[in-house]
Amino acid sequence: MSASSEDQFKNIVSHCKEYGFIFQSSEIYDGLSAAYDYGPYGVELKNNIKDYWWQAMVRMHDNIVGIDAAIFMHPKTWKASGHVDAFNDPLIDNKDSNKRYRADVMIEEYIEKIEAKISKEVDKAVKRFGDDFDEAMYRLTNERVVANQIKIDDINKRLATCMTDGDMAGLKTLIEDLEIADPVSGSRNWTEVRQFNLMFSTQLGNIAGEEGKLYLRPETAQGIFVNFLNVQKTTRQKVPFGIAQIGKAFRNEIVARQFIFRMREFEQMEMQFFVRPGTEMEFYKYWKEERMKWHLALGTPAEKLKFKDHDNLAHYANAAVDIQFDFPFGFRELEGIHSRTDYDLKSHQELSGKKLQYFDPELNENYVPFVVETSIGCDRMFLALMSHALVEETVPDADGKDSTRTVLKLPPSLAPIKCAVLPLVKNKEDLTDKARAVLHQLKAHFPCQYDEKDAIGRRYRRQDAIGTPFCVTVDFQTLEDETVTIRERDTLEQVRVGIDQVTAIVLEKTTMANLFA
Ligand code: GAP
Repeated sequence: MSASSEDQFKNIVSHCKEYGFIFQSSEIYDGLSAAYDYGPYGVELKNNIKDYWWQAMVRMHDNIVGIDAAIFMHPKTWKASGHVDAFNDPLIDNKDSNKRYRADVMIEEYIEKIEAKISKEVDKAVKRFGDDFDEAMYRLTNERVVANQIKIDDINKRLATCMTDGDMAGLKTLIEDLEIADPVSGSRNWTEVRQFNLMFSTQLGNIAGEEGKLYLRPETAQGIFVNFLNVQKTTRQKVPFGIAQIGKAFRNEIVARQFIFRMREFEQMEMQFFVRPGTEMEFYKYWKEERMKWHLALGTPAEKLKFKDHDNLAHYANAAVDIQFDFPFGFRELEGIHSRTDYDLKSHQELSGKKLQYFDPELNENYVPFVVETSIGCDRMFLALMSHALVEETVPDADGKDSTRTVLKLPPSLAPIKCAVLPLVKNKEDLTDKARAVLHQLKAHFPCQYDEKDAIGRRYRRQDAIGTPFCVTVDFQTLEDETVTIRERDTLEQVRVGIDQVTAIVLEKTTMANLFA
């Protein structure tokens, strides 16, 4: 991470804490790693993200319905899904520091360092050659860049082969060949690489031993698969149709860092789309495009999002792509779109002995549908939004002088508070009474906040910092003519309007319908 990106990341983490978006879990006991609590503004923003996803998937599609399945599922679920046998990460320990790492992540970080060297070389050349610079040609012809690119391709190939084949010894050899050292101790004294299952387990109170072993679900998808026929029959949906769900998932991540990017308890928004076998690639393409549109509708700059095909396919997939977002620590997975074949339904059918087939009236035949899934982490989406919404900028203050403000430029439809109501001064009862009356009128329509403490400029800054799109100020003129000023967060424009117009103005700009326009 460059120094400025590191600063940006630290700013996001401290802003989230200072303004009540996210707190470390159990902070008074020095915290629990990779678990976070959402504070008052955080929970509102997170709910709005979930609402936007739910509306886009369920309300805007006639052929998608929702469910809310239990976190605990019959233990055979995880046998059938392949999670008991194959939901592993390759783990390696350093014998000197006793620190534990993910072997594949260490290799990926090694690749990133070479990529950074190439970027540095290219940046220098851009400066040297100015407008005439042909970057593509430079990457193909510069000796050092070419040598480094060959190195990257070679490592990637070896890594992909080891991961696909489950070749733990091969990963260890790769780490040794690359002379990767422990970032803490600098030592190269490594253990063998071992498979580590990521599922958390717990025990039922009334059944001892393996029989009573339960898992905390590592993905919400399986709750959808096992309910496939229940939902299809009760809603009379015809293939192709989808089932959507939002809920908690749990993974015993070895490398759990980067704030809410990788947590042990997190929330997923998943949709399984059931299609006729043989049509899955058509729908895979459709959902890739649809999901990218969902992100772009939020005003996320297009250059911050990109598709990345999977190098290693999961045990259930015949095609998979990530939508990556440019986080402060680089492009990383935000969402996955996977063509999961009929793997899950067939496995559940076999292990449960219950038919999970669909009768297709058009074809007059039964089949196990294929599935295309879209899966996004709600917490990662939260971090992505924060990453490009949190900005510092210079704006004129009340005296017309330049001042710096921290502002959270969230899409208004997702902002935790839509409108703040501020009496111009706090020690005039007729002003504060009037402001509270205005608040009372607005709060039935959207989340509002009343604030009378400190000078008006400071109160505006506080609302900017939590992303409130509108501030309504009640002043002495309000008492005479029932008008208020309404200030827009991004343009800083203030206009005077009738109190009776405020609801409509705020609703028009903050309704989620804007995102579907
Ligand atoms: N059902 C498919 C599935 O679970 P995944 O790629 O493992 O696929 C889907 O996870 C999404 O869940 C990811 O794109 C990411 O946004 C989110 N996610 C996965 N692991 C996470 C973690 N440890 N912390 C936060 N979000 C996570």
